[in-house]
Amino acid sequence: MPVEQNWVPQSVDVSVPSAARLYDYMLGGAHNFAVDRLMGDKIELVMPHARSAARINRSFLGRAVRFMVEQGVRQFLDIGSGIPTVSNVHEVAQAEDPECRVLYVDRDPVAVAHSELILAGDDRTGVLQADMRDPESILDSPVARRVLDFDEPIGLLMLFMVHWVPTEADPWGLLKHYREALASGSYLAITHFANDHDNEGAKAAAERMNQAGGDQVVQRGRDEILALFGDFELAEPGLVGFAEWRPAGPGDISVDPSLNRVAYAGVARKP
Ligand SMILES: C[S@@+](CC[C@H](N)C(=O)[O-])C[C@H]1O[C@@H](n2cnc3c(N)ncnc32)[C@H](O)[C@@H]1O
Repeated sequence: MPVEQNWVPQSVDVSVPSAARLYDYMLGGAHNFAVDRLMGDKIELVMPHARSAARINRSFLGRAVRFMVEQGVRQFLDIGSGIPTVSNVHEVAQAEDPECRVLYVDRDPVAVAHSELILAGDDRTGVLQADMRDPESILDSPVARRVLDFDEPIGLLMLFMVHWVPTEADPWGLLKHYREALASGSYLAITHFANDHDNEGAKAAAERMNQAGGDQVVQRGRDEILALFGDFELAEPGLVGFAEWRPAGPGDISVDPSLNRVAYAGVARKP
């Protein structure tokens, strides 16, 4: 007898994999469908350490948020936030300072529905279903104005996210728009799949994802990713392999050096 999945919003197309649900599957989550699991298994065939890549990215999220809190940031805008899993931004930030506020944004209805469930009753957080390619729909939204104060520094997170934005949509112009909306002292954190490292597995994984016809991934080179930060000043150690950004313990870094360079990571401050 089929199990009723009452968490599935009606607008969800369960016939193509989604970036949010695929990532949830790779992290060991339960909010994914057969089509996502099939894609995840296909990816593992060509990229055996794919699940480690997801975990390394998630670990970077924690390090970046704690770093920003240390720098005095108390509010966060997490765009492309995904399906809630362990160590979400508000959990990491509020563990450092319970006053921290977080707005989660994703275009995926499953990610948004779950974020709403988890955050119900926490008035220091908010959730918005929106596409990052329409910055006004995020920056001018009532929930953004309720949760965030744009006159104060904000930590803007775009993790494993901008590589889903096609080049035709001008991710550099979009990022400029977001950067300009932030106050001085704000921070921008990005992780982004790389195409200039010797990692055939990651390339083959991206091809498989794109062939499936769902969200399309674009791997980019270091200079293209660096340009997303504009005139923001990169914190040490700069734009590096995502495992190499201030690793805090053995779980942050893989024994496979090529895996550590699957994606670039950086955190930069608005002067
Ligand atoms: C791989 S998940 C990353 C989740 C989280 N940021 C992390 O790094 O752990 C990528 C997320 O970006 C979202 N996404 C992709 N393109 C988007 C867009 N144009 N606007 C908003 N969200 C988008 C997907 O729905 C997905 O939930």
